[in-house]
Amino acid sequence: MKAFIHKNKDLKNIIRETAEIAGYLWQRGWAERNASNISVNITDVYQPEISEYSTFPFYGLQVSYSKLAGNLFFVTGTGKRMRDLTRKPMKNALILKLNDNASGYWIISQKMDGENFLPTSELPTHLGIHQMIAERESMEKVVMHTHAHDLVTLTHAKQFCDEDVLNKLLWSMHPETVIFVPKGVGFVPYRLPGSIEIATETIKSLQNHDVAMWEKHGVFAIGKSVADTFDLIDILAKSAKIYFLCRSADFVPESFTDGQLAELRKLADNF
Ligand code: 13P
Ligand code: ZN
Repeated sequence: MKAFIHKNKDLKNIIRETAEIAGYLWQRGWAERNASNISVNITDVYQPEISEYSTFPFYGLQVSYSKLAGNLFFVTGTGKRMRDLTRKPMKNALILKLNDNASGYWIISQKMDGENFLPTSELPTHLGIHQMIAERESMEKVVMHTHAHDLVTLTHAKQFCDEDVLNKLLWSMHPETVIFVPKGVGFVPYRLPGSIEIATETIKSLQNHDVAMWEKHGVFAIGKSVADTFDLIDILAKSAKIYFLCRSADFVPESFTDGQLAELRKLADNF
């Protein structure tokens, strides 16, 4: 497996980029202990010829993701640290392949008797989002979850647990947010992490946005590359940070006027 990865330039680049960005999540303070998880649909770049699937660990899925039958994913492991992934990606992430009826998956980067670990506990949300992307045939390959604390902090105030209010605030703090996150964020009310319920709510929310905020927990974002996906969260976190810096300096930010926002939106449309 390792030798094959080294021979595949595209896959090697995806793993290298994921490792780099995992380090940024840690540096930002968004990835305490095992917090954060990333999955990349690598079906287009990696199709290994496997003759004997019985040598790989196999796990059933609670939900069948029919559009993802036979697809391959590079996914971070549950309980693994992002800062460790940066140094040793294949010891902290794995490659899984869904079977032909999408009722389960093999971990093809592991052997039955090896030092095995499972994919992220948020796998139902990751796969559900990849399935939605496959259904609408859009180009996103990456799903990223992290505990971006400035954004999480906002969701601890009832007044911000509303999509319109949240987006007005985030767009009004910094020009880049309007330009690079024109669809704004979705808001997902608190649900148990790892549950099918939170997966269902997140998928609904990401039908109209590229980022969904999980109340009192974190964010989920989608993008074409790991770097692009990280950038979306980073830009939104900057807006939230500016808001909190103003408040901690004891003033309420003036924010953009409706006219300034409209002007920025026009710029975003032409971008
Ligand atoms: P995992 O270690 O299972 O990926 O969980 C991290 C996390 O952030 C859960 O929401
Ligand atoms: Zn989390």
